[in-house]
Amino acid sequence: MLDKLVILGGERLEGEIRISGAKNAALPILAATLLADEPVIIRNLPHLHDITTMIELLGCMGIDLTIDERLGIEVNANTIQSFTAPYELVKTMRASILVLGPLLARFGQAQVSFPGGCAIGSRPVDLHIKGLKALGAELDVQDGYINARSNGRLKGAHIFMDTVTVGGTENVLMAAVLAEGQTVIENAAREPEVVDLANCLVAMGAQISGIGSDTLVIDGVERLHGCDYTIMPDRIETGTYLVAAAATRGHVKLKDTDPEVMEAVLMKLKEAGADITTGKDWIELDMHGCRPKAVNIRTAPYPAFPTDMQAQFTAMNAVAEGTATVTETVFENRLIQTHEMNRMGAKISIEGNMAIVEGQEHLKGAPVMATDLRASASLVIAGLVAHGQTLVDRIYHIDRGYECIEEKLQQLGANIRRLPE
Ligand code: EPZ
Repeated sequence: MLDKLVILGGERLEGEIRISGAKNAALPILAATLLADEPVIIRNLPHLHDITTMIELLGCMGIDLTIDERLGIEVNANTIQSFTAPYELVKTMRASILVLGPLLARFGQAQVSFPGGCAIGSRPVDLHIKGLKALGAELDVQDGYINARSNGRLKGAHIFMDTVTVGGTENVLMAAVLAEGQTVIENAAREPEVVDLANCLVAMGAQISGIGSDTLVIDGVERLHGCDYTIMPDRIETGTYLVAAAATRGHVKLKDTDPEVMEAVLMKLKEAGADITTGKDWIELDMHGCRPKAVNIRTAPYPAFPTDMQAQFTAMNAVAEGTATVTETVFENRLIQTHEMNRMGAKISIEGNMAIVEGQEHLKGAPVMATDLRASASLVIAGLVAHGQTLVDRIYHIDRGYECIEEKLQQLGANIRRLPE
């Protein structure tokens, strides 16, 4: 559990790797299997702790699961016995909240432990609750649990999301597909993972229009059937390896990915000096041995620059030529990893929600530790460019979101290995 990564910096990343399925699409899609009254097959699941936790959550509700060795899974939700997402699982993974909408819509009841704050901010779920209430559900919070009930089918409604929320949009969308009548979700999140979920729901027989726009129109159906669905490639994993290659002045080709959902990130990499070529399902990045140039970043909901790529670009800026600002507008506390980077010789100062990063010629290896997934990835990138040895502690955060990170980096020529506890 408390494994560490040891990195000897200085190698340029070079070579080819395959990108895994998207964690943040797989999680809601696994929750959505609860909605179907026939077995659902999901393919291209990434091999990650968070996915195992979601599978465990379905399993502890009594749901029949058949997993093949390539992490395809068949889910038969008809065997459900319990409608509870217990504290022990929700505390390890906030995305457990995504079973709330499906349980409520299909079975008329759910008890989901209330997710607390986390390392990157307070992260409320008020908009999930408000949206489900608008669909006619009764929800209250008692003893740390959200208790939800519905008298018969949920009812379609017109819902406006105050803030763009990925999880909130997903929860309400999954509930609305089985509601009676039409639901309109305005100011919906347009993230590609929301699109992937919507496409999977359509494959199960849901009627959704406006997919990929900020207004989703859902005509509720009485039942959803089984389907065979392949999860989209992980755009954040893709972006992380591209940034790692750019920071190390390398040359990589990533396969089984989707350049179409990467526009904001690829644009910033080009601005940093990367030569980028894309095909239908691959991306090649070549720095021609040059140091990256610093690029200003401002995070915002899709299609703008993703908050999940902010920490990695901050790491690249730390060794880039010039000074850049990185502004985080989605989460309130997502620049804290910069303090760890400063321990490696980076020059980053924080003013409110903005980091000012003065690119340094070199970083120095050091023991570091991160408190969330993307921040940990950024410390790995810093370690790859630093002189000497970097020891990244608490890498269980990384294992939640990056499949075999040390193996993939080794394949690209990095000097990195896992130290078991
Ligand atoms: C998803 O989280 C992702 N997680 C996050 O990825 C990602 O950073 C985030 O979307 C933004 O893109 C999954 O998909 C499992 P939000 P989510 O609801 O859905 C506020 C990673 O590293 N808000 O879009 O929880 C909230 O506080 C993770 O893979 C409310 O105010 O994010 C935040 O400021 C980390 N009320 C903003 O909205 C609500 O009811 C966006 O959060 C819900 C959210």
